[in-house]
Amino acid sequence: MINVSLNQAGDRVVIVDQTRLPGQVEYVELATAEDLYQAIFQLKVRGAPAIGICAAFGMYALALLMPQGNYEDFYREFQKTKEYIASSRPTAVNLKWALDRMERTVKAHASAAVWEICQKLKEEAQAIQQEDIQMCRRIAEYGLSLVKSGDGILTHCNAGPLATSRYGTALGPIFLGKERGIDFRVFADETRPLLQGARLTAYELQQGGVDVTLICDNMASVVMKNGWVQACFVGCDRVAANGDTANKIGTSGVAILARHYQIPFYVLGPSSTIDLNCPTGADIPIELRAPDEIKEKFYRQPMALPEVKCYNPAFDVTDHSLITAIVTDQGIFREPYTESLRTLRK
Ligand code: MRU
Repeated sequence: MINVSLNQAGDRVVIVDQTRLPGQVEYVELATAEDLYQAIFQLKVRGAPAIGICAAFGMYALALLMPQGNYEDFYREFQKTKEYIASSRPTAVNLKWALDRMERTVKAHASAAVWEICQKLKEEAQAIQQEDIQMCRRIAEYGLSLVKSGDGILTHCNAGPLATSRYGTALGPIFLGKERGIDFRVFADETRPLLQGARLTAYELQQGGVDVTLICDNMASVVMKNGWVQACFVGCDRVAANGDTANKIGTSGVAILARHYQIPFYVLGPSSTIDLNCPTGADIPIELRAPDEIKEKFYRQPMALPEVKCYNPAFDVTDHSLITAIVTDQGIFREPYTESLRTLRK
């Protein structure tokens, strides 16, 4: 399943609507900037790398609709649209990273005709997607070196192929292992409130023939205590220069439990998710989402009174001291992260 692509005419982005999974595999075409914004905001496309890839193809497709007469008018419209799309989700740094790459492409070809700039934008989006496949493959290789056949691996949220382009980050070693006859037992946290673990991770692993067991988030402690988990693999939405890591809400709790049970806790992500401009986790903007996701979204009827207050942060920050290693396409990084991550090629 290719989660982000262009339509046959090559002028619109097509995504798999992840909010319909696992029940339905539905492809949606994004025709306008509003469609692109809403697809990202409503998590039809989600997972940090996939958001970046979708935004890159989206900016190319939208560029085709912008004024083609002169560079100044085109660039003004491009910037406005870019800022709008960038505001759809604030935590995943890959969104800004991909949009900045697209803007640099426009500026680098300022003397070319607008139709040529559009062609360059298409090539840049394709490059972002291809690079992501290669990065995920390298992450999978490094991650695989940290575990052995038969190990139990606990994961939180979804950092599989749906969240990237292929393999995934946290799930990459598991899929690569499967290709090589190395089998793991995976425990997938359901991941309240939006159930990415139940709807997407358990789906992807089950489809891939991996031994996966779905658990509620509050069962992680029990499976760890039972001795069923030898490593935790999670993805990341933004890693600060000191190694503090923003990922799906609940991740920091898993890290605290893993420390208690002396289980290694690994963060896996592409180098594009490491934000050396962000000194610590306290500098990472955390997205707050609507109360209905907690109270009613996946229920037949509301499960709380409408007037009950809710606090619904989409991400939390895991302190770097709880992270055994950060596994990237450029290798495995360990404490002190401020020094090791500084050596990353950007
Ligand atoms: O809100 P989501 O579903 O976009 O959150 C996704 C995560 O937290 C993933 O773990 C992260 O983006 C890494 S995906 C390779």
